[in-house]
Parts: sequence; C-alpha cells; structure tokens
Amino acid sequence: MELIINPTLNEIKKAAKALRDGHLVAFPTETVYGLGADATNKEAVSRIYSVKARPPDHPLIVHISSINLLNEWATDIPEFAMMLARKFWPGPMTLILKRKNLAKDFITGGQSSVGIRIPSDPIAQSLLKEFEKSGGFGIAAPSANRFGEVSSTTASSIVENLGSYLTTQDLVLDGGQCKIGIESTIIDCTRMKSHILRPGAVTIKMIEKITDVEIKNTNSLEIRVSGSFGVHYAPKARVILDQTPKPGDGLIALSNVLTPRGVIRLASPENEDEFARILYSSLQEGDNLKLAKVIVMQPTNNGISFAIRERLSRAAGIQQSIDL
Ligand code: TXA
Ligand code: MG
Repeated sequence: MELIINPTLNEIKKAAKALRDGHLVAFPTETVYGLGADATNKEAVSRIYSVKARPPDHPLIVHISSINLLNEWATDIPEFAMMLARKFWPGPMTLILKRKNLAKDFITGGQSSVGIRIPSDPIAQSLLKEFEKSGGFGIAAPSANRFGEVSSTTASSIVENLGSYLTTQDLVLDGGQCKIGIESTIIDCTRMKSHILRPGAVTIKMIEKITDVEIKNTNSLEIRVSGSFGVHYAPKARVILDQTPKPGDGLIALSNVLTPRGVIRLASPENEDEFARILYSSLQEGDNLKLAKVIVMQPTNNGISFAIRERLSRAAGIQQSIDL
C-alpha cells in the first residue's frame, strides 16, 4: 500500500488510474474516509468485502461527482428526492433510489435499490472527476474500517487497521482529519415519502424544511443496513454512556465537564460539531492506550448530537430505538 499525503492533481490522476485498473484507493470525504473501488468492477468490489471482512450481502454506496451522473445509476427518482439532492449535494447525504442496470447485485446486495452520494470534500471531488474523465461511472466506497469497528476519520487509522490487508498497488490518500467525522445521513427515497435510515449531519430538521420525513425504528429495518447490527461502530474498550467514570477509565465529554482524579481524558470538544469530528479517533485512542472502559457523556441537543447518540448507542451495544 502506498500512502500519499496531501495528493497533488497528478497523484489524484494516478489514483483514478489505479481505480480503473481494479485496485483499491482509500480517500477522504467530509464525513469519514472511504475505501474505494470501481463500482462497475466485480473483482475490485469483492476486494472491498475481503479487506473489510464485511458480510457479502451488505450494499455499498456509489459515489459520483455531480447530479449529471445520477441517471446512469438510478431511475424513477421522485421529485422530493431531487429536491433533497439539489439542496444537500455535494454533502453528507446518501439517497437510496430505485436502481438502474448499471448498479449490479454485487453493489446493491441483490436489492432493487442503490445508495448514491455526492461528497463535497475537494480530494474526493477531484478523484471522482478524474475517474469519470477516464471513463469511470462511480466509486463504490464503504467506510474504511474492519466490519463492526469504528470508521476511520484519519489516514493513519486506515494504515493501522487495514494496511495489512491492502496490496502494494492499493493507495491511501491522506487529506487530514475529516471535517464532519460521522457517516452521511441515509435517506430512503424508494417510497412515497422520505425515511431516514441513518441519521447524520443533514439533520431531521433540515430535511423537514424540504419534504415530509419519517425516521425508521432501526430495530425493525426491512432493508439491510450494515450499521443496523447491535454492536457496531464499536472500539475494543467497553463503551459506557452517561455514568461517572472511575480511576483508570477513559472519558470523552464536552469541555465543561471536569475530569475526576485518575480518569484518562480522551477528548474535550467545545461543541457538538467538534464532538462528532473527534469521536471516532478518541475511541481509537482509548484502544491504543489499552483502556478497558471508556465513558462517554453524550451531548443532549438535537442537530448532529442525535446522530452522535445513535452511533454511541450502537458502540455501547444498547438495542434501543431512536426517539426524536
Ligand atoms: O459517509 C458515508 O456514507 C461514508 C463515506 C465513505 O461516504 N460511507 C459509508 O459507507 O458510511 P458504509 O458502507 O460504511 O455504510 C453505508 C450504509 C450501509 O449500512 C449500507 O448497508 C447502507 O448504507 N446502504 C447502501 N446501499 C443501500 C441500499 N440500497 N439500501 C439500504 N441501505 C443501503
Ligand atoms: Mg461503515
């Protein structure tokens, strides 16, 4: 695996070529890093599954550079979905749409829908543009982590966790820390009205301004969403929510929370946006320090805190439904 720090345009062109040649390229997006492969290349896509140790029937998100390519992948797109697309793309949102023939079973997990996202991160945008210029249609990219573990928000986390599964021709593009830090909002647009399958930085309030929205009880998802297993987004340490930490425990909490004596403070974000940004790397830091327990004092506002709490309830293995 080759690590490229702050890639130049020429290096991004090289990465686009590597994708066209069937290799994997991990790249930054504004949410989390993606582990990319040519979304039309079955062998390349199957390598994503083996590198991640992900169950084979879990669908992947196809990333494209602009709305121009949407009709290659999806059909019968409802007007409310187009309104969401125009409002929030490029950005931290994935739409689930009725698939076209280009979205094969190896992308959709055999479902008749396909997940599409247009990321805004400049490296992701530039990689997609170069890939499309050279004849590509889209880059399939799940979060760049082993199945069930927390997503990578830095390139060093990818090198550490996935490096030994990548080949010498695979690339990791290092664009620094991801700006948002948690995965995109996933909105199912295959029915009369939009349903949130995974909350994220595009919040319920923001969506409600555009169209009617429902949030699914994640315990009864009919559609397979790999994030919908009990323990997911989980570090090795036990994650415990909203309890007083004991000496030797790790602690992640907003900066106004004091650190009790003997407790290892992993992060002190100033606000909920910073909380989202540092959450996964702070949990990984707890693992690097070999902590047995990490206490997280959850932010209580709605906005992005809702998505933070959803991820944390999974990391803690709490099978609770989401309440608004
Ligand atoms: O922010 C993100 O969305 C990141 C960056 C890299 O774009 N990607 C990401 O991918 O989080 P992944 O594979 O880790 O999570 C995508 C989720 C999975 O739970 C998958 O099951 C769901 O999206 N998904 C993909 N296609 C779907 C479909 N057709 N129907 C329902 N769920 C789908
Ligand atoms: Mg993931």
